[in-house]
Amino acid sequence: MNMERIVIANWKMNPSRIKDALKLFKTTHTATRACKNTTVMVAAPAPFLPLLAKLPGKQVVSLAAQDLSHQGGGAYTGEVGGSMLASIGASHVLVGHSERRLQGEDDECVARKMLSAHKARLVPILCVGESQRDADGAYLRTVGDQVVQALQYLTASHIAKSMIAYEPIWAIGAQAAQTRDVEEMCLYIRRSLSDRVGPNRAARIPILYGGSVEVRNAASFIEETGVQGLLVGRASLHASFGSLLKKVDQVSFET
Ligand code: PGA
Repeated sequence: MNMERIVIANWKMNPSRIKDALKLFKTTHTATRACKNTTVMVAAPAPFLPLLAKLPGKQVVSLAAQDLSHQGGGAYTGEVGGSMLASIGASHVLVGHSERRLQGEDDECVARKMLSAHKARLVPILCVGESQRDADGAYLRTVGDQVVQALQYLTASHIAKSMIAYEPIWAIGAQAAQTRDVEEMCLYIRRSLSDRVGPNRAARIPILYGGSVEVRNAASFIEETGVQGLLVGRASLHASFGSLLKKVDQVSFET
């Protein structure tokens, strides 16, 4: 059986020039066209989004922003609003990435951003993850609390139209988590979602894993953990990203 899966390329603050962004997007687009079971999305820096949206590949590769303001508009120098992003062709937006939280974004701000994304009709991808693991399992509560707080202003139908990315901070740009740890957290997050929207709706909310996903481990997360997709940083900037997509696309599930 082949189930739909999702891979999001998080380019972060890369590349430096539009010329290279267009090249990278085209490579990703070509690799995506060969995929049958995988939805591919590029979370590009905001200045590149309008140009990428004009490329023919936009129908194949969806576009996500990496952040949005929690404000609707007005005197907020430097901020980018959800409706601005939607109007230039983004369909999704990362919210609460740990690299944003490091800049001072707290749970309240993340919750307001989740609401702003829905108001702008963008699908938010809520990023959650603990900074460290402990023997007593406090990390589960940490992530559970992040989920509960982030969803506090949303209705059940908003929540049903959101995505969650579990990204343990210690695994980002370092060493990937073990598949059994991701499986445990995926179940835990699903249970938190279920408390808000009931088990049927919760079962359909995509949960992704991110943190040092590479060509050699990408398929195992899809095969072994119950996540529906991956959020890929560094590896999405390399030529081998096409091989990563292929490996994910070829995972087949026993019925
Ligand atoms: P990484 O980044 O794949 O480079 O670890 C993932 C992310 O931060 O989204």
